[in-house]
Amino acid sequence: MKFFIAGLTGATGRLLTSQLLAEGHTVFGFARNPDALPIGIRHHGNLKIQQGSLLDIPDEQLRAVLDKVDGIGSCLGHSVTRQGIWGHPRTLVRDAVQRLVELTKHKRMHLVLMSSNGVVNTDNNEQFQWMDRAAISVLRTVLPPQKDNELAAVFLQNQTYPYLEWCIVRPDNLVDHSEVSGYKAFVSPQLGVIFGAGQTSRINVAHFMKTLLTEEAVWAAWQGQWPVLYNEVHLDKKLAAI
Ligand SMILES: NC(=O)c1ccc[n+]([C@@H]2O[C@H](COP(=O)([O-])OP(=O)(O)OC[C@H]3O[C@@H](n4cnc5c(N)ncnc54)[C@H](OP(=O)(O)O)[C@@H]3O)[C@@H](O)[C@H]2O)c1
Repeated sequence: MKFFIAGLTGATGRLLTSQLLAEGHTVFGFARNPDALPIGIRHHGNLKIQQGSLLDIPDEQLRAVLDKVDGIGSCLGHSVTRQGIWGHPRTLVRDAVQRLVELTKHKRMHLVLMSSNGVVNTDNNEQFQWMDRAAISVLRTVLPPQKDNELAAVFLQNQTYPYLEWCIVRPDNLVDHSEVSGYKAFVSPQLGVIFGAGQTSRINVAHFMKTLLTEEAVWAAWQGQWPVLYNEVHLDKKLAAI
Protein backbone atom coordinates (compact mmCIF):
# COMPACT_ATOMS: atom_id res chain seq x y z
CA MET A 1 0.00 0.00 0.00
CA LYS A 2 0.98 3.64 -0.35
CA PHE A 3 0.89 6.21 2.44
CA PHE A 4 1.59 9.90 2.91
CA ILE A 5 3.26 10.72 6.23
CA ALA A 6 3.33 14.31 7.45
CA GLY A 7 6.16 15.05 9.86
CA LEU A 8 8.11 12.00 8.77
CA THR A 9 11.45 13.46 9.93
CA GLY A 10 10.15 13.80 13.50
CA ALA A 11 10.84 11.48 16.40
CA THR A 12 7.60 9.52 15.88
CA GLY A 13 7.20 10.14 12.15
CA ARG A 14 10.47 8.42 11.30
CA LEU A 15 9.48 5.36 13.38
CA LEU A 16 6.14 5.14 11.58
CA THR A 17 7.89 5.55 8.22
CA SER A 18 10.45 2.90 9.08
CA GLN A 19 7.75 0.41 10.19
CA LEU A 20 5.72 0.96 7.02
CA LEU A 21 8.80 0.56 4.81
CA ALA A 22 9.78 -2.61 6.67
CA GLU A 23 6.42 -4.14 5.75
CA GLY A 24 6.94 -3.35 2.06
CA HIS A 25 4.70 -0.28 1.84
CA THR A 26 5.62 2.87 -0.05
CA VAL A 27 5.87 6.13 1.90
CA PHE A 28 5.51 9.60 0.40
CA GLY A 29 6.29 12.84 2.19
CA PHE A 30 7.78 16.30 2.22
CA ALA A 31 10.46 17.44 4.61
CA ARG A 32 12.23 20.70 5.18
CA ASN A 33 15.45 18.73 5.52
CA PRO A 34 15.15 15.18 4.14
CA ASP A 35 18.79 14.50 5.03
CA ALA A 36 17.80 14.65 8.72
CA LEU A 37 16.45 11.12 8.27
CA PRO A 38 18.63 8.14 9.20
CA ILE A 39 20.45 6.77 6.13
CA GLY A 40 18.49 3.48 6.17
CA ILE A 41 15.23 5.40 5.71
CA ARG A 42 16.55 8.27 3.58
CA HIS A 43 17.89 5.94 0.88
CA HIS A 44 15.16 3.30 1.05
CA GLY A 45 13.86 2.50 -2.42
CA ASN A 46 10.23 2.82 -1.32
CA LEU A 47 10.61 6.25 0.29
CA LYS A 48 9.44 9.00 -2.08
CA ILE A 49 10.45 12.18 -0.36
CA GLN A 50 10.58 15.72 -1.70
CA GLN A 51 12.18 18.74 -0.12
CA GLY A 52 9.82 21.42 1.17
CA SER A 53 7.54 22.43 4.02
CA LEU A 54 4.08 20.87 3.87
CA LEU A 55 2.29 24.21 4.29
CA ASP A 56 4.25 25.83 1.43
CA ILE A 57 4.03 23.12 -1.26
CA PRO A 58 1.79 24.29 -4.15
CA ASP A 59 -1.62 22.57 -4.26
CA GLU A 60 -0.92 20.86 -7.61
CA GLN A 61 2.35 19.36 -6.38
CA LEU A 62 0.79 18.10 -3.15
CA ARG A 63 -2.34 16.80 -4.90
CA ALA A 64 -0.20 14.83 -7.37
CA VAL A 65 1.32 12.96 -4.43
CA LEU A 66 -1.89 12.55 -2.44
CA ASP A 67 -3.69 11.12 -5.47
CA LYS A 68 -1.35 8.12 -5.26
CA VAL A 69 -1.90 7.18 -1.61
CA ASP A 70 -4.32 4.95 0.30
CA GLY A 71 -3.93 6.68 3.65
CA ILE A 72 -2.36 9.56 5.53
CA GLY A 73 -0.58 9.69 8.87
CA SER A 74 0.30 12.95 10.58
CA CYS A 75 3.04 13.06 13.21
CA LEU A 76 3.51 16.80 12.79
CA GLY A 77 4.34 18.80 15.86
CA HIS A 78 5.86 22.10 16.85
CA SER A 79 9.63 22.04 17.31
CA VAL A 80 10.61 22.45 20.94
CA THR A 81 12.29 25.81 20.36
CA ARG A 82 11.13 29.37 21.08
CA GLN A 83 10.32 29.79 17.36
CA GLY A 84 8.60 26.39 17.14
CA ILE A 85 6.36 26.98 20.15
CA TRP A 86 5.60 30.72 20.04
CA GLY A 87 6.48 31.66 16.44
CA HIS A 88 4.55 31.01 13.24
CA PRO A 89 2.89 28.89 11.98
CA ARG A 90 0.95 28.67 15.26
CA THR A 91 -1.70 26.45 13.71
CA LEU A 92 0.72 24.15 11.89
CA VAL A 93 -1.11 20.90 12.65
CA ARG A 94 -4.64 22.22 12.02
CA ASP A 95 -3.59 23.95 8.78
CA ALA A 96 -1.76 20.87 7.53
CA VAL A 97 -4.67 18.54 8.33
CA GLN A 98 -7.08 20.97 6.66
CA ARG A 99 -4.97 21.00 3.47
CA LEU A 100 -4.65 17.23 3.41
CA VAL A 101 -8.39 16.77 3.86
CA GLU A 102 -9.34 19.39 1.27
CA LEU A 103 -6.98 17.95 -1.34
CA THR A 104 -8.23 14.39 -0.88
CA LYS A 105 -11.95 15.00 -0.43
CA HIS A 106 -12.75 13.46 -3.83
CA LYS A 107 -11.41 10.01 -2.90
CA ARG A 108 -11.68 7.41 -0.14
CA MET A 109 -9.13 8.36 2.49
CA HIS A 110 -8.08 7.16 5.93
CA LEU A 111 -6.31 9.80 8.01
CA VAL A 112 -4.61 9.12 11.34
CA LEU A 113 -3.67 12.17 13.39
CA MET A 114 -1.14 11.96 16.21
CA SER A 115 -2.43 14.24 18.92
CA SER A 116 -2.12 14.29 22.70
CA ASN A 117 -4.08 13.00 25.69
CA GLY A 118 -4.31 16.65 26.80
CA VAL A 119 -6.81 17.15 23.98
CA VAL A 120 -10.27 16.49 25.39
CA ASN A 121 -12.94 14.74 23.36
CA THR A 122 -15.91 16.78 24.55
CA ASP A 123 -18.33 14.56 22.61
CA ASN A 124 -17.23 11.68 24.83
CA ASN A 125 -18.17 13.34 28.13
CA GLU A 126 -14.57 13.02 29.39
CA GLN A 127 -14.24 14.06 33.02
CA PHE A 128 -10.81 15.17 34.22
CA GLN A 129 -9.80 15.93 37.79
CA TRP A 130 -9.89 19.65 38.57
CA MET A 131 -6.08 20.00 38.66
CA ASP A 132 -5.82 18.61 35.12
CA ARG A 133 -8.66 20.85 33.91
CA ALA A 134 -6.90 23.90 35.38
CA ALA A 135 -3.52 22.91 33.92
CA ILE A 136 -4.96 22.29 30.43
CA SER A 137 -6.71 25.62 30.52
CA VAL A 138 -3.42 27.37 31.38
CA LEU A 139 -1.52 25.40 28.71
CA ARG A 140 -4.14 26.39 26.13
CA THR A 141 -3.46 30.04 26.90
CA VAL A 142 0.31 30.01 27.13
CA LEU A 143 1.31 27.21 24.72
CA PRO A 144 0.06 27.60 21.13
CA PRO A 145 0.80 23.91 20.31
CA GLN A 146 -1.89 22.78 22.80
CA LYS A 147 -4.47 25.00 21.11
CA ASP A 148 -3.25 23.83 17.69
CA ASN A 149 -3.73 20.16 18.59
CA GLU A 150 -7.23 20.97 19.87
CA LEU A 151 -8.14 22.85 16.67
CA ALA A 152 -6.85 20.01 14.48
CA ALA A 153 -8.89 17.42 16.38
CA VAL A 154 -12.08 19.48 16.32
CA PHE A 155 -11.57 20.19 12.62
CA LEU A 156 -11.46 16.47 11.88
CA GLN A 157 -14.38 15.70 14.16
CA ASN A 158 -16.56 18.21 12.32
CA GLN A 159 -15.79 16.91 8.83
CA THR A 160 -18.69 15.65 6.76
CA TYR A 161 -16.83 14.67 3.59
CA PRO A 162 -18.34 11.33 2.56
CA TYR A 163 -15.06 9.61 1.64
CA LEU A 164 -13.02 10.71 4.66
CA GLU A 165 -12.52 8.47 7.67
CA TRP A 166 -10.20 9.51 10.49
CA CYS A 167 -8.76 8.49 13.83
CA ILE A 168 -7.14 10.77 16.42
CA VAL A 169 -4.44 8.95 18.40
CA ARG A 170 -3.77 10.40 21.86
CA PRO A 171 -0.54 9.24 23.50
CA ASP A 172 0.27 9.99 27.13
CA ASN A 173 3.71 11.36 28.09
CA LEU A 174 5.97 10.36 25.22
CA VAL A 175 9.09 8.31 25.96
CA ASP A 176 11.65 6.71 23.66
CA HIS A 177 12.08 2.93 23.69
CA SER A 178 13.91 0.89 21.08
CA GLU A 179 11.38 -1.95 20.73
CA VAL A 180 7.61 -2.16 20.36
CA SER A 181 6.15 -3.38 23.67
CA GLY A 182 2.69 -4.16 25.00
CA TYR A 183 0.29 -1.24 24.84
CA LYS A 184 -3.40 -0.64 25.30
CA ALA A 185 -5.82 1.74 23.62
CA PHE A 186 -8.91 3.18 25.37
CA VAL A 187 -11.65 5.48 24.17
CA SER A 188 -10.85 7.94 27.00
CA PRO A 189 -7.95 8.65 29.40
CA GLN A 190 -7.60 6.12 32.23
CA LEU A 191 -5.11 8.17 34.25
CA GLY A 192 -4.49 11.84 34.96
CA VAL A 193 -3.55 13.87 31.94
CA ILE A 194 -0.95 16.11 33.58
CA PHE A 195 -1.03 14.95 37.22
CA GLY A 196 -0.54 11.21 37.72
CA ALA A 197 -0.11 10.66 33.99
CA GLY A 198 1.18 7.50 32.32
CA GLN A 199 3.66 6.81 29.53
CA THR A 200 3.52 5.94 25.88
CA SER A 201 6.60 5.12 23.85
CA ARG A 202 6.85 6.74 20.46
CA ILE A 203 7.61 3.39 18.87
CA ASN A 204 4.27 2.08 20.21
CA VAL A 205 2.46 5.15 18.84
CA ALA A 206 4.07 4.46 15.46
CA HIS A 207 3.07 0.79 15.67
CA PHE A 208 -0.55 1.63 16.48
CA MET A 209 -0.71 4.20 13.66
CA LYS A 210 0.82 1.68 11.24
CA THR A 211 -1.68 -0.95 12.31
CA LEU A 212 -4.58 1.46 11.89
CA LEU A 213 -3.44 2.35 8.39
CA THR A 214 -2.76 -1.19 7.21
CA GLU A 215 -5.24 -3.47 9.00
CA GLU A 216 -8.92 -3.09 8.11
CA ALA A 217 -10.16 -4.75 11.32
CA VAL A 218 -8.18 -2.34 13.49
CA TRP A 219 -9.39 0.57 11.39
CA ALA A 220 -13.00 -0.58 11.72
CA ALA A 221 -12.59 -0.72 15.51
CA TRP A 222 -11.17 2.78 15.91
CA GLN A 223 -12.17 4.98 12.99
CA GLY A 224 -14.02 8.13 14.10
CA GLN A 225 -12.60 7.74 17.64
CA TRP A 226 -9.86 9.35 19.70
CA PRO A 227 -8.00 6.38 21.23
CA VAL A 228 -5.75 7.10 24.20
CA LEU A 229 -2.65 4.93 24.16
CA TYR A 230 -0.66 3.66 27.17
CA ASN A 231 2.35 1.41 27.58
CA GLU A 232 0.81 -1.60 29.28
CA VAL A 233 3.38 -2.21 32.03
CA HIS A 234 3.40 1.39 33.17
CA LEU A 235 -0.40 1.60 33.07
CA ASP A 236 -0.84 -1.56 35.15
CA LYS A 237 1.57 -0.25 37.80
CA LYS A 238 -0.20 3.10 37.94
CA LEU A 239 -3.66 1.53 38.19
CA ALA A 240 -2.47 -0.85 40.92
CA ALA A 241 -1.21 2.12 42.93
CA ILE A 242 -4.52 4.00 42.79
N1 LIG B 1 2.06 13.77 25.77
C1 LIG B 1 1.67 13.79 24.53
O1 LIG B 1 0.62 13.32 24.25
C2 LIG B 1 2.54 14.42 23.54
C3 LIG B 1 3.79 14.78 23.93
C4 LIG B 1 4.59 15.33 23.00
C5 LIG B 1 4.11 15.51 21.71
N2 LIG B 1 2.87 15.17 21.38
C6 LIG B 1 2.36 15.38 20.04
O2 LIG B 1 2.90 14.39 19.21
C7 LIG B 1 3.18 14.93 17.94
C8 LIG B 1 4.56 14.52 17.43
O3 LIG B 1 5.53 14.44 18.46
P1 LIG B 1 7.08 14.14 18.12
O4 LIG B 1 7.82 14.26 19.39
O5 LIG B 1 7.21 12.90 17.29
O6 LIG B 1 7.40 15.41 17.19
P2 LIG B 1 8.79 15.99 16.63
O7 LIG B 1 9.91 15.05 16.81
O8 LIG B 1 8.96 17.37 17.18
O9 LIG B 1 8.49 16.08 15.05
C9 LIG B 1 7.69 17.08 14.54
C10 LIG B 1 7.63 16.98 13.01
O10 LIG B 1 6.91 18.13 12.55
C11 LIG B 1 7.71 18.82 11.58
N3 LIG B 1 7.54 20.27 11.65
C12 LIG B 1 7.69 21.06 12.74
N4 LIG B 1 7.46 22.35 12.40
C13 LIG B 1 7.18 22.36 11.08
C14 LIG B 1 6.86 23.39 10.14
N5 LIG B 1 6.79 24.67 10.51
N6 LIG B 1 6.63 23.04 8.86
C15 LIG B 1 6.70 21.74 8.47
N7 LIG B 1 7.00 20.71 9.31
C16 LIG B 1 7.23 21.04 10.59
C17 LIG B 1 9.15 18.48 11.94
O11 LIG B 1 9.94 18.69 10.80
P3 LIG B 1 11.50 19.06 10.92
O12 LIG B 1 12.19 17.73 11.09
O13 LIG B 1 11.81 19.73 9.64
O14 LIG B 1 11.64 19.96 12.13
C18 LIG B 1 8.99 17.01 12.32
O15 LIG B 1 8.96 16.19 11.19
C19 LIG B 1 2.94 16.42 18.12
O16 LIG B 1 1.66 16.74 17.56
C20 LIG B 1 2.85 16.68 19.56
O17 LIG B 1 1.93 17.69 19.91
C21 LIG B 1 2.08 14.61 22.27
